[in-house]
Amino acid sequence: MLHLDENFPLPSYQKFRPTVRQTSVNSISTLYNMHVKKDTIEIQVNGHSHTLNIDRSTTLLTTLRNELGLYAAKYGCGLKQCGACTVIVGGEAIQSCSLTLDEIQGREITTLEGLSEDDALMSAFIAHDAGQCGYCIPGMIMAATSLLAWNDEPNENEIRRALERNLCRCGAHPRILAAIRSLSKNKDEA
Ligand code: FES
Ligand code: FES
Repeated sequence: MLHLDENFPLPSYQKFRPTVRQTSVNSISTLYNMHVKKDTIEIQVNGHSHTLNIDRSTTLLTTLRNELGLYAAKYGCGLKQCGACTVIVGGEAIQSCSLTLDEIQGREITTLEGLSEDDALMSAFIAHDAGQCGYCIPGMIMAATSLLAWNDEPNENEIRRALERNLCRCGAHPRILAAIRSLSKNKDEA
């Protein structure tokens, strides 16, 4: 019989190596499920009602992506700094990374997936080639959709202010601005 230690002796330092228990992803999620209190929560997204059994402190962004399979809103900074996660909550453009389910109870949520396929703003972004990698675009479109719903004739300054919390790492801001301006009834410079 082959004896590992005799035939292939381990270097002395390895003989005293402590046994490391492997932790699988499954056991982590089992532990999580055992220790996190879950509630039944109903949320309204894109005109549909969803009932979830979930920790009410879960962020809206995590819920959209992990529970509902809505991947348009992106995780960028997680700190309300970049706007990649922007969705519309009760008519207002808000960063979904910093909102918990507790905070959105009873409010209608709209994500990019909830806009129509021939949405005028999406068409304007395409026509103006407004984007490069595309990571920021869903957040930009939702911020601009919210603005145009309140004010259909924003001037350039008003558009800039509405999008000041949305960062485009590719530097496509001029084309994004042009796309939104093309839909404004106000063509003044400021
Ligand atoms: S990921 Fe939400 S603001 Fe950056
Ligand atoms: S197009 Fe790449 S981050 Fe805006």
